[in-house]
Amino acid sequence: MSVTVRVPAKVNVQLAVGAARPDGFHDLANVFLAVGLFDEVTVTPAAELRITCEGPGAAQVPLDGTNLAARAAVALAERYGRTPDVHIHIAKDIPVAGGMAGGSADGAGALLACDALWGTGASHVELLDICAELGSDVPFSLVGGAALGIGRGEKLTVLETGGTFHWVFAMAERGLSTPAVFREFDRLVADSDVPVPVASPELLDALAKGDPDALAASVSNDLQPAALSLFPALADTLDAGRAAGALTALVSGSGPTTAFLARDAEAARQVARALSASGTCRAVRVTAGPVQGARLL
Ligand code: C5P
Repeated sequence: MSVTVRVPAKVNVQLAVGAARPDGFHDLANVFLAVGLFDEVTVTPAAELRITCEGPGAAQVPLDGTNLAARAAVALAERYGRTPDVHIHIAKDIPVAGGMAGGSADGAGALLACDALWGTGASHVELLDICAELGSDVPFSLVGGAALGIGRGEKLTVLETGGTFHWVFAMAERGLSTPAVFREFDRLVADSDVPVPVASPELLDALAKGDPDALAASVSNDLQPAALSLFPALADTLDAGRAAGALTALVSGSGPTTAFLARDAEAARQVARALSASGTCRAVRVTAGPVQGARLL
């Protein structure tokens, strides 16, 4: 018997980053939107815990105990006094090390899949607790839709959205390490007073109304200067998307995936064609959000 869970990627429509805390993390006001790029995580009973992975970038995915999917299985098994004896197979479509929470998606997916396979009866709140232990973005991968994350990004408030937003994502030739991008952020702001991160009322209003023009006018990503500093060529991708008529262009999370908002599905396809022809990225995807979080197939 196997259980498969489908989990979406995310884009941050606002990522406000505060100063580094004593624990090294940063307080955030993080507005997540789940978008229609998915990993599928399948768990099957096995003699012992093992992980396999297929899809673009699979060679970069760690197949040992550091993989968030493995850590999720171990955390749930420990809580319910059993052994995490499963084969976890990840079919990847979310870019690896791309700033779209691909690793977090696999953690949330494995957790939900093992929970169903083992019939633990864990409550949604318990699952969210385990997600928060695994990583800052993992609770959002479970919940999906749109949400504001504060603290490290793990304390979620669900946001209502008044419509579907159309996006184009440009995948980069290589990944970026999230800790490295936060370190670069710290370096860039070292001599300035970093304001306390707060969610933008205009942005929340744009999401609630489903208004792409208003959303485009209010998106922001405080990690973007750091991602561009470590990966300057991303500026060319952003320029190509803007020139092709995107309403706005930004780095997704810690990058290096770049995100382009379009007014509708046809406009998104036009931006995607221009980005593909620009030679400034590895691959281009058209999708939309919000979509629901991790769910059993
Ligand atoms: O929580 P997670 O393990 O996904 O975070 C990965 C890394 O990103 C952390 O080790 C830290 O360097 C950085 N981070 C941060 N502040 C946050 C979230 C992540 O500095 N709020």
